[in-house]
Amino acid sequence: MPPVRCARCGAEDARYHISFARTSLCAACYVRYYERKLKATVLKYGMLKVMRRPLVALSGGKDSTSALVGLKSVFPDLEVTALYIDLGIPGYSEESERVVRKVTDELGVELIVHRLKNDGRTVPELARGRFKRKPCAICGTVKRYVMNKIAIETGHDTVVTGHNLDDTVEVLFELYRRGLLEEAVRLRPVLLGDGVRLTNRVKPLFEMTDEEDLYYVDAKGIEVVESWCPLVRGAKTVSRKVLIHEIESKIPGFRHTLLKAHVKRFLPVLERAISQPELKRCAVCGYPTTSDVCSYCRAMRPVTLKRDVGSSGAGASNGEEGLR
Ligand code: AMP
Ligand code: FES
Ligand code: ZN
Repeated sequence: MPPVRCARCGAEDARYHISFARTSLCAACYVRYYERKLKATVLKYGMLKVMRRPLVALSGGKDSTSALVGLKSVFPDLEVTALYIDLGIPGYSEESERVVRKVTDELGVELIVHRLKNDGRTVPELARGRFKRKPCAICGTVKRYVMNKIAIETGHDTVVTGHNLDDTVEVLFELYRRGLLEEAVRLRPVLLGDGVRLTNRVKPLFEMTDEEDLYYVDAKGIEVVESWCPLVRGAKTVSRKVLIHEIESKIPGFRHTLLKAHVKRFLPVLERAISQPELKRCAVCGYPTTSDVCSYCRAMRPVTLKRDVGSSGAGASNGEEGLR
């Protein structure tokens, strides 16, 4: 095949083909393109005004690594800390931690490591119990809880995650299909906290695709975890992403159009129509929840709970649940 020319500078090594934009760029032009887009997204959604002391939740995957590296490159004065949660998944967690340590060392970013096993139960332990059928769901709940708690305890006002356009579209697809409007209204690039026990949450990659994040770390020569979590096999989120890619191949631009429709058309209406659930304080840990005891405490300390406060029944939902 003849070498592809970069659409911006004409160099012959245009290795990065952005499929939805039908354009190919060389590494240097790609990095410029990505960082410019990241900056525009951050400014467009007012993220800089919200995050004075951000805590980047870093999994070692391509997305959260792109978020950290991108933010540091575009806003070098931003005082960023990274948080890695060791979920206790044999092999996968150690490899992720190695990669996370490497990138934070290279960037000179402070890293906080939180080990779930010190909280009582690792994700594989949770997945052996009553969460057997849905390890990713309880894993997500636990991660969100830990991100918020560590941010509060360490004086960070905002948690930054690597959720991107593909993640959002995948969830949107499901929420609209099932009519879960209370959750759809919270699916946005910036979620404000309460300034006390709930931090702000910001998604700087809200408009980036999986492909764009992958190209960015590749073009910058940054190592990321490439293996999948072993518990994710067969998860519905993966099959939905595959399905969405099939739709995209038949309807080009499907993902971007859906995201835009959500942000511009649906969200303003949903925000007016749907009131946020009232948050109480968890009887055990004091963090916000919609039920008496939050999902984290119910999952992590079922034995203590039965003895001390009585289990408030499985299925009640935490204010954090379902949020992305
Ligand atoms: P996921 O729940 O795997 O879809 O990840 C969503 C976001 O949560 C990622 O983009 C990261 O920002 C964050 N995240 C996931 N896993 C971890 C982890 N082990 N430690 C810290 N942050 C994480
Ligand atoms: Fe959460 Fe695999 S990372 S279930
Ligand atoms: Zn609790």
